[in-house]
Amino acid sequence: MNIRPRRNRKSETIRSMIRETHVSTSDLIYPLFLLESPQGAIEVASMPGIYRLGLNKMLLEIEQCMKVGIKSFDIFPVVEEKHKDKTATKSHDPQFFYLQALKRIKKEFPEACIITDVAMDPYSSDGHDGLVDEHGNILNDETLDILAKMALAQAETGIDIIGPSDMMDGRVGYLREELDINDFSNVSIMSYTAKYASAFYGPFRDALDSAPKSGDKKTYQMDSANQREALIEADLDVEEGADFLMVKPALAYLDVIKLLKENYDLPIAAYNVSGEYAMVCAAAEKGWLDKDAIMNEVLLSIKRAGADVILTYYAKEFARRIS
Ligand code: PBG
Repeated sequence: MNIRPRRNRKSETIRSMIRETHVSTSDLIYPLFLLESPQGAIEVASMPGIYRLGLNKMLLEIEQCMKVGIKSFDIFPVVEEKHKDKTATKSHDPQFFYLQALKRIKKEFPEACIITDVAMDPYSSDGHDGLVDEHGNILNDETLDILAKMALAQAETGIDIIGPSDMMDGRVGYLREELDINDFSNVSIMSYTAKYASAFYGPFRDALDSAPKSGDKKTYQMDSANQREALIEADLDVEEGADFLMVKPALAYLDVIKLLKENYDLPIAAYNVSGEYAMVCAAAEKGWLDKDAIMNEVLLSIKRAGADVILTYYAKEFARRIS
């Protein structure tokens, strides 16, 4: 035998020398759930180790993360039912706790990269990402106006990147233009480019209490069966001025990550979503899987598929393990 691939696997030193893919803390974005009550801390039942945190607790959490090299955070609000309405009014009320908290977080940690979510669902009494009419239809163009108000209110707090996760048509261009004419040309857009209608979002909707009150999200989020359609979405996002293209979920859509990586020069982000995290935790709790080993393998596989950036609930734990 001339060729024996095992020679290159004979020691950890050699394996690490020729390793093609690496995950580092600077690749990771940590999603956080913000509670209204400043001292609050409530674990998400389906996501062991992940807490909904009030502002004071979140400031401590961010400080700890920064120390181990996690410097980017995607912050989602947990909105009480009494604040929700059809038009997501609280999403652009500058006095609302989420916007106030963002301002404080940016003030305490100017060097952190703070990402916000642009979609109506946490603030909507319908639990949908867009405006719902009396027949249950999700109104695209009417929603854009609300998303723009939300994005501007978030930009006003000093955050770095907005993340439109709503999947309305034309929203990246609409938001880009509104940000620019309001002097926020420096605020970036991480577009949820290929966001699939996925059952993997279940635990997240538990965390935010944001599940749709009726119907599903299939008229705006993509059909799981489709790959080429992601190219249409990506073309539009590039044209409309996105700074990052995201694929979500990650693990069941590695082919889509690879497709976008091969076809576009923008950084590719992948969202290793709540259900992907929950599955591993559940199996680990039963002693069926080794959580740390799986975490490494999952993150590596998402990177190997072509993601430059990974949003993941493992971020803090990964950083702790390697530091
Ligand atoms: C809402 C939003 C969702 C997630 C991020 N933003 C849920 C949804 O679209 O229903 C899911 C994240 C996760 O599951 O970790 N626009």
